[in-house]
Amino acid sequence: MSAPKLLILYGSQTGTAQDTAERIGRQAQRRRMQVKAEALDSYNVANLISESLVVFVCSTTGQGDPPDNMKNFWRFVFRKSLPAGSLCRLDCAVLGLGDSSYPKFNFVAKKLQKRLMQLGASVLLPVGLADDQHDLGADGVIDPWLMSFWERAQALYPTPVGQSLIREDEPLPPRYVFRFLDDVTENRADRLRVPEPPISPSQTHTFPGRVVSSKRVTHASHFQDVRHIEFDITGSDIEFTAGDVVMMRPCNTPEDVEQFCQLLRLDPDRQFTLSPTNCDTGSVPARLAQPCTVRHLVESFLDIAAVPRRSFFELLATFATNELEREKLSEFNSAQGQDELHAYCNRPRRTALEVLTDFPHTTAELSVDYLLDLFPEIQPRSFSIASSLLTHPNRIQILLAVVHYKTKMHLPRKGLCSSWLASLDPKQGEVYVPLWVKKGSMKFPKDPYSPVIMVGPGTGVAPFRSALQERIAQGKTANVLFFGCRSQSKDFYCCSEWEEMEKAGQLTLFTAFSRDQEDKIYVQQRVQEQAELLWDLIANKKGYFYIAGNAKQMPTAVCDALKEGFQSQGGVSSDEADEMLVAMERAGRFQSETWS
Ligand code: 2AM
Repeated sequence: MSAPKLLILYGSQTGTAQDTAERIGRQAQRRRMQVKAEALDSYNVANLISESLVVFVCSTTGQGDPPDNMKNFWRFVFRKSLPAGSLCRLDCAVLGLGDSSYPKFNFVAKKLQKRLMQLGASVLLPVGLADDQHDLGADGVIDPWLMSFWERAQALYPTPVGQSLIREDEPLPPRYVFRFLDDVTENRADRLRVPEPPISPSQTHTFPGRVVSSKRVTHASHFQDVRHIEFDITGSDIEFTAGDVVMMRPCNTPEDVEQFCQLLRLDPDRQFTLSPTNCDTGSVPARLAQPCTVRHLVESFLDIAAVPRRSFFELLATFATNELEREKLSEFNSAQGQDELHAYCNRPRRTALEVLTDFPHTTAELSVDYLLDLFPEIQPRSFSIASSLLTHPNRIQILLAVVHYKTKMHLPRKGLCSSWLASLDPKQGEVYVPLWVKKGSMKFPKDPYSPVIMVGPGTGVAPFRSALQERIAQGKTANVLFFGCRSQSKDFYCCSEWEEMEKAGQLTLFTAFSRDQEDKIYVQQRVQEQAELLWDLIANKKGYFYIAGNAKQMPTAVCDALKEGFQSQGGVSSDEADEMLVAMERAGRFQSETWS
């Protein structure tokens, strides 16, 4: 009897669903299954009709949207032309990863499960609904769901007779093997390829944007360092419009790279090539040049500064020979140890590198071949573009809030990407950031007469700065901006630009300085005060309303203020005001983009 096959397809935005999919893959390997885990959009969906057993692991992003790497699949699977019984030979299960603080909790997984059933697939168990609010993995959803899944899957697809399971404490083979170049006779120092920058950059082939300037735009005494950073993209054919985002992957700090190499006793200058151990299922990551130095791998690929996921501890435990460390790690991997793991790791936001320093014996035992199994790839970060090509040709500008926060640990925490970007100083020599551009979700009206109302406190104003530059260059002057910050003298960035636009009759500006007086004033208060103007612009002149920002409560408060205005000005009931906003949203006249 041959080994049963399992396909795991994931839709992952930040890497969590991918990590979970890979974890399921390892559990399948231990059950001697032939397993493959792939992003939904890398998989040829036409082959789905001939699969036998598939697990879908999908997260839900934003306002109930599928992650970027399953968008094509999403469109395909909901095609009306797909016959009802087309998946009747498929056994499947759907695991959703979501956040219950958002309104459409696990919307993607729920909708996918329904659709798969419509298409005739046999669904082995109810959809799993993991919740980020309870820290995925420690929430008591994924593990029990997986237990039921394996029970059902193995009843249908049993392990071949005579084969036993691979024990949890036995390491599985790594995904790649490293071949150090000094192990072979050739001298390949001159083979380190520096590829030509692509003209049309993408996630795997980025464009090196030169940092032109990086200016602090908040007062030196202000608690937060906000930077206005400009990149030169001359030589690329990058195009974007207001609402689009620039993507980039940060690098680990030189200190972290150094420390990591020391802990693992790696020579950062050594070169290696990678080969997948399973040629059927693996290929070398496209953005790792071959050959590559250890330094490059650690600096720009391995996410050693993130809070490690559960799978990291599972794998780490298989290397532990020191009694004390082994005990601790097996506790972290047990169902009972999840609270402790959470308290040790997630709550203080301990980084993978810090965990390695806490387990020095185990770290010294780690085999280099497992580096890509232990550490996920550094994820790209997105920033709203804050400029327009019409006013700043060949340039991309962003507004960056440098992230510092305190946790229960003694060391203050820093955001990897923002600290890295802020550390790049063009005055010290030429610096380049690998980047690419992605379409954003916000769209601005083409009609020159449609008024646009934008609410963007803090760095939420970034896409609106881009929109204002673009619209004014196109002669569109019906623009209203609500901006909020703490203090007029400390963090009212871009104010001279707004002033000029106001003087030229191209902008109406309302400001809310939350801490310049005793009681806090927020943008929603200004929205409330401007009810009459807003009613006129929205109800009579078919205006568009936008919200962007990172304050979690802000969008709801702004919407409430807006709806209150509909009631007071338009004489509509509370339900009617709700419906008005829903109708606006459907027509693309109400859009919001929030991030944390
Ligand atoms: P605060 O920090 O003084 O509370 C940009 O960050 C601005 O958004 C700041 O003035 C900040 O005020 C404000 N802000 C914080 N929470 C908010 C909320 N729930 N609604 C609107 N604005 C908020």
